[in-house]
Amino acid sequence: MGEATAVAHPNIALVKYWGKRDHALNLPAAGSVSLTLGPVRTRTTVRWGEPGDRLVLDGETADATATRRVSAFLDLVRALVPDLGGAEVVSANDFPTAAGLASSSSGFAALAVAATEAAGLALDTEQLSVLARRGSGSAARSVLGGFVRMNAGIRDDGTDSFAVPVADVDHWDLRVVIAVTEAGPKDVASTVGMNRTQETSPYYAAWIDTVAPAMEAAEAAIRGRDFDALAVVAEASAMQMHASAIAAVPAVLYWRGATVDVLHRVRSLRSAGTPVFSTVDAGPHVKAFTTTSHVTEISEALAAVAGVTRVLVAKPAGPARVVACG
Ligand code: PMV
Repeated sequence: MGEATAVAHPNIALVKYWGKRDHALNLPAAGSVSLTLGPVRTRTTVRWGEPGDRLVLDGETADATATRRVSAFLDLVRALVPDLGGAEVVSANDFPTAAGLASSSSGFAALAVAATEAAGLALDTEQLSVLARRGSGSAARSVLGGFVRMNAGIRDDGTDSFAVPVADVDHWDLRVVIAVTEAGPKDVASTVGMNRTQETSPYYAAWIDTVAPAMEAAEAAIRGRDFDALAVVAEASAMQMHASAIAAVPAVLYWRGATVDVLHRVRSLRSAGTPVFSTVDAGPHVKAFTTTSHVTEISEALAAVAGVTRVLVAKPAGPARVVACG
């Protein structure tokens, strides 16, 4: 039976995904725009032909919940290729999970590539993105490198809901300084947070209305390498997503005190003329986009904010890919 190893990088959304149009197929209610980031990555090996499914995550046997989620994903591959049997999945992130980089984005992208390669399937990028989406919405984007657009699609079966390239990894050498803040209580999982927002937030419909124009503006800014224009649209998208979530009942509030302090610091640096803007995902950490020449300045400034425990620097990275098979 086949075995293959794949690597994939996480991505950070510049125009956020927050809300689903179909839960079973994990279809987004609107599109999104992201940048795939390295050198951080997930490396995953899949070996079919085992008596049952087993998941080893960062060197330890995973708990039942994580194993079930991976098994449900492997069922999608088993539906395409008969008699694959169970699979051993060994996956490792070379970045701290506490860094708030969406490990599910690189995790399910690497799993989609490794599991299908090991099963002898030759899927194209769109098919891999459709498959990765079933594991996690953001994973559909990590199948591709560089700047990426996720198409929400309109078909009920989700075959048109996949990521497409906007600009490749060498197009624009941006940097992302990740300000890791003190861990609070466990965050609300993104699916729980977006479902609650969709069901209870009076601002959910207004949030969804912002997405299509933001995508158009973000893609134009990316194509033109217009940092100031990208700053305006990306910050607005993150704030509007969080505003809709904060208005849910009970509130979906990911920010801690240090999160807000870093957001203020980024705003004052930009007011003073430094090219920098921030974005926040389903956790308390802040990701600050900047240019290569300002990385040191931004890293030092954000590391000095009370409650920031460390800073990591990331840069554009390539697509998910097979690195070994046999
Ligand atoms: O696809 P998920 O379940 O990892 O959700 C991603 C949600 C955000 O990170 C907050 C936004 C995004 O587009 O990545």
